[in-house]
Amino acid sequence: MKKIVLLGYMGSGKSTIAKILSKKIHYDYKDLDQVIEKAMGLTINEIFEQKGEVFFRKLEHQFLTELLASNENMIIGLGGGTPCFSNNNALLLADHISSIYLKTSIDKLFNRLRHSLNRPLVANKSDEELKEFIAKSLFERSYYYNQANYTVVTDDKAPDLIANEIKSLLI
Ligand code: S3P
Repeated sequence: MKKIVLLGYMGSGKSTIAKILSKKIHYDYKDLDQVIEKAMGLTINEIFEQKGEVFFRKLEHQFLTELLASNENMIIGLGGGTPCFSNNNALLLADHISSIYLKTSIDKLFNRLRHSLNRPLVANKSDEELKEFIAKSLFERSYYYNQANYTVVTDDKAPDLIANEIKSLLI
């Protein structure tokens, strides 16, 4: 069964676009973070706080593997770090998966993440620290993001337009 996977940095719009695309192509959609939160009965913040990042990365790998193996067509919105840990990147290269990297500029990410409280990696940073963190981790993560089947630049585009672009790539 076909899987459409949206990946990209925190704040690149994965969940928003997944929802819109789901209506356009009539595939169910799952947000990996939400799947983890529901299964654990804890928020992502609580998992990081109580169990640590390594534990979260293990869960992320486990639930990604399950979603990819499920017997239905599905759009999956990953977490920003998902392709960059365990062997998730290799899992995403399978034939039944179309992966799309939502590419967003550092300035846009910075503006969207400045007041984000539910993302443990970026919460409680000064503006200067946040900008540096985004620049550095986006640089490191780009190696993984760039292995997606398609890249869609999101800057200055409405979510509906981005979803249409993805739809046309998938036909
Ligand atoms: C993370 C991104 C988050 C979430 C967790 C870690 C990351 O998802 O999985 O806070 O490492 O980039 P979003 O990209 O949906 O914010």
